[in-house]
Amino acid sequence: MSTEIESVLIENRVFPPFPNLVKGAAISGMDAYQTMCEDARKNPDAFWEKLAREHLVWDKPFTQIVDDGKAPFYRWFGDGELNVSANCLDKHLGTPTANKTAIIFEADDGKVTQITYKELHARVCQFANGIKALGYKAGERAIIYMPMSIEAVVAMQACARLGIIHSVVFGGFSSKSLHERTVDVGATLVITADEQMRGGRSIPLKSAVDESLEMGGCEGVRHVIVYRRTGGQVQWRDGRDLWMHDVCGNQADTCEPEQLNAEHPLFILYTSGSTGKPKGVQHACAGFLLWALLTVKWTFDAKDSDVFWCTADVGWVTGHTYVTYGPLAAGLTQVVFEGVPTYPDVGRFWDMIQRHKVSIFYTAPTAIRSLTKAAEATPERHPREYDLTSLRIIGSVGEPINPEAWMWYYTNVGGERCPVLDTWWQTETGAHMITPLPGVTPLKPGSCTLPLPGIEAAIVDEAGDEVERGKGGFLVMKRPWPGMIRTIWGDPDRFKKSYFPPELKGYYLAGDGAQRDSDGYFWIMGRIDDVLNVSGHRLGTMEVESALVAHDLVAEAAVVGRPDATTGEAIVAFVVLNRNLPDDSEAETIAKTLRDWVGKEIGPIAKPKDIRFGENLPKTRSGKIMRRLLRVVAKGEPVTQDTSTLENPAILDQLSKAR
Ligand code: PRX
Repeated sequence: MSTEIESVLIENRVFPPFPNLVKGAAISGMDAYQTMCEDARKNPDAFWEKLAREHLVWDKPFTQIVDDGKAPFYRWFGDGELNVSANCLDKHLGTPTANKTAIIFEADDGKVTQITYKELHARVCQFANGIKALGYKAGERAIIYMPMSIEAVVAMQACARLGIIHSVVFGGFSSKSLHERTVDVGATLVITADEQMRGGRSIPLKSAVDESLEMGGCEGVRHVIVYRRTGGQVQWRDGRDLWMHDVCGNQADTCEPEQLNAEHPLFILYTSGSTGKPKGVQHACAGFLLWALLTVKWTFDAKDSDVFWCTADVGWVTGHTYVTYGPLAAGLTQVVFEGVPTYPDVGRFWDMIQRHKVSIFYTAPTAIRSLTKAAEATPERHPREYDLTSLRIIGSVGEPINPEAWMWYYTNVGGERCPVLDTWWQTETGAHMITPLPGVTPLKPGSCTLPLPGIEAAIVDEAGDEVERGKGGFLVMKRPWPGMIRTIWGDPDRFKKSYFPPELKGYYLAGDGAQRDSDGYFWIMGRIDDVLNVSGHRLGTMEVESALVAHDLVAEAAVVGRPDATTGEAIVAFVVLNRNLPDDSEAETIAKTLRDWVGKEIGPIAKPKDIRFGENLPKTRSGKIMRRLLRVVAKGEPVTQDTSTLENPAILDQLSKAR
């Protein structure tokens, strides 16, 4: 593990909670928060037991709380039984929520479709019945590769209803990435769409599924169910391919939910780690649902009258927790958006908030930073030109939000009336872990502030001992929590090694560096492993390197991150070709070829922003690539570090000059 940590600006401004939000908040006031934290510390079992009984509907009540007999493979509420979809939908039938709008769906072209809880329940049941009629059973795995749509939520919920474990793959991933996940998860079903619409353009999805299935190793896939989104041309394999509307056909609109063990896997979601192979993060039904629901109630202080909008795609964990599961379990009305923030113009988000009277808005720092620039360039689309007074809470997720972006968001979007909730969490944590609470926490721009009740976050050194305030170290969780990752699908050893290294006393290692200030506030300082965060998307440097070296022209490649004003981090690749060094114009052509190649191998999000060619890479005499130096070169800074252990110091000069 490396202690090398990028530093962040430590801000001094403090914004106390707004009195109108403190009053009536789910957690109201610092004293209430501290009491909850204290209760959880003193008697964690009683703390979690009460919450799980109060907030979830159980088919068979649990008697066990946390079972640590096989730690770190914790089990939560392990002898209880329930169904996640029933907790998101059936629970509301027979209550006033049944006729409430569950989803306001806005398509890329602006067309709005609304669906009530009752209608959504019926749609989910019909689709679940259709899948069941095809012979699918609890425990099988389904790949979902769909655009943002009501149908994507229906597909996920239908799987949850039957105990089919879904693995959603972001629609921006290539057929190759899709293939890798389909094989790893051992999928028997794929649910997709003909095409997706983004910014006025149609992007094929079904053809990527066809390609991925032709790559071999996915012979277990019996059906591909296709949602007709655009009506675009698709290839069809009779017997395997089915339209979603035909699968639903005349199916009944009620479907008995499967009574599942609390620990039954709900989903597997792939995320990047420090090796080339993405990890299938496995979450369990009851624990995940509890944590998703509690954080919607606590962090967002969600009320029945709220209109909630999380802009994340269901291809990422944020879309799982804060689109498909949390808001529905809480009975909220939410906006689901198909398109992009810049189409038809850069005011799209603000216009949507105004039209749908959004009161809780949750997005990523990258979106905020790019919209800041756009609003300044296009004053008529500046958020101040829109009525955003419906907003009461605004949140941020996925990457550090720099104080400037925080202040812009607070002032221009929140109108200085809404707290900015900088929520720190991960695919592995299931839901928020360290975040301000609207009725509790004084805010400091750039800090995710304090852990939620029940979460024992700490900063430790290499031996697992807590470091002093103000000192950097590894962010860990000292105790398990219900929403935590259960294992890495098919690789329990990697799970143990990655998250519970023996030297850290059994603590959960998040993979982020952080420090605490004198008030105990947490400041995240970036990853401690070879994971990049580009526009809030996690990517392993090794994944990009493997994609590059798979190209015939490439002999060797090293990939590092460089701070970027819009995307947070940008990918810089240093490449040694299988031929002589290209001249400038050749370099440009080859760089484009390689960029497109990576786009095809992984997906457009992984395309390096900058590719530099050299005759070699900076290596130690034992042949290890010195990424530390490459990071300096990538930033365009002079190398002042000791380079005496380098085999070939002159290479740094070449790489610094190369374009
Ligand atoms: O480095 C942290 C960063 O994103 C990583 C988790 O990425 P992922 O699993 O894709 O989940 C993203 C959505 C939760 C973390 O290890 N990260 C996430 N939120 C923040 C953050 N870094 C700083 N501040 C945050 N609020």
